[in-house]
Amino acid sequence: MKVMITGAAGFIGSQLAYALWKKGVELILIDNFSYGKVDNLEFSEHSFVDEIIKMDIRDNEGIAKLLEGKDVDYIYNIAGIAPLPDCQLDPVEAISVNLNGFVNLLENGRKYGVKKIIQASTNAMYENETEFPTFENNFKQPTLIYPNTKYCAERFAQSYCDTYGMNVTCLRFANVYGPHIDCLRKQPPFVAYMIRELYYGRTPVFHSDGTQRRDYIYVDDLVRLAIMVQKGDGFDCVNVSSNMNYSVNEMYDIAQKIMGKNIAAEYASDAHYWEKYPGLYEGAYPIKNEILNHEINKYSLCDNSHAKEKYGWQPEVGMEEGLRRVIENECELLSKLGE
Ligand SMILES: NC(=O)c1ccc[n+]([C@@H]2O[C@H](COP(=O)([O-])OP(=O)(O)OC[C@H]3O[C@@H](n4cnc5c(N)ncnc54)[C@H](O)[C@@H]3O)[C@@H](O)[C@H]2O)c1
Repeated sequence: MKVMITGAAGFIGSQLAYALWKKGVELILIDNFSYGKVDNLEFSEHSFVDEIIKMDIRDNEGIAKLLEGKDVDYIYNIAGIAPLPDCQLDPVEAISVNLNGFVNLLENGRKYGVKKIIQASTNAMYENETEFPTFENNFKQPTLIYPNTKYCAERFAQSYCDTYGMNVTCLRFANVYGPHIDCLRKQPPFVAYMIRELYYGRTPVFHSDGTQRRDYIYVDDLVRLAIMVQKGDGFDCVNVSSNMNYSVNEMYDIAQKIMGKNIAAEYASDAHYWEKYPGLYEGAYPIKNEILNHEINKYSLCDNSHAKEKYGWQPEVGMEEGLRRVIENECELLSKLGE
């Protein structure tokens, strides 16, 4: 079996590459390294550093050359601009990568007979939902740029399936956590941020009052499902969630217990949420407070019965065990940086 993975130097793409490599799958790995890191490509049993191809998913000729005559079975499009404020600050680039880049893969997959494309989509597109748990169908149109790029990508996937009989599965990930989560980026994901601050003995600053609840999925559980969905024809969207949600304060308590810390968190106003992105607060139309407030306080809980019933999948890693593994990995990384 031959598989192309885009975004293979990122948090999720690298873990998927490793899992497929362990199964003996022949891999074509690409990443433009806009967010990816060489460190993510080093695993205990194997290094992908010399194998990865530096390429942009928008490179039509480059992608065509990698697919033509190669009988690639599956493309996993894990590449994307994931941080919400980055997408908000540069919507042209976000649309270019998350939508145009994906359509470039669809079009090349069509020409060169790829069996199935599996797309990294997101439960962020449920941001305006008011009924929980959220099922895959009949949700309200999203507002922010990032979920809209992923939502539009799904629309084009369906277009290709309906028009050409292609097979595409869009995996709508809940908040993903696991080793290699990026704790060093400008606006790290919450789990990475909280562990980093605890590691350095600093007081973390959370927005709102910490009671807001989100659902999560451990990266190994996601990767198992991503492999299971290779079977199945046509167009499909699948929630990838543990079906359980946790508040910021609950997660912080678990992390403190594991790390043996006792540091009271600070709580900041919602208005400062994306203050590291001053461009969003400037111009004739600055971002609305109510939008920041909604993004911070939104409740998320996705139903995962479709993944269970159709693919026989079951999440296996609970929050305490998952956080323990991330903490171990992240603390090791931070200690290396300090040396
Ligand atoms: N992490 C989460 O909680 C989460 C949740 C929902 C959806 N997703 C989606 O899953 C995917 C992977 O997320 P992640 O957390 O691993 O992010 P990540 O930033 O660690 O990985 C994304 C990778 O894509 C690469 N990339 C970006 N633009 C590219 C381009 N034009 N061409 C080639 N490579 C490019 C980056 O360099 C990076 O290595 C993203 O598409 C993201 O939108 C992630």
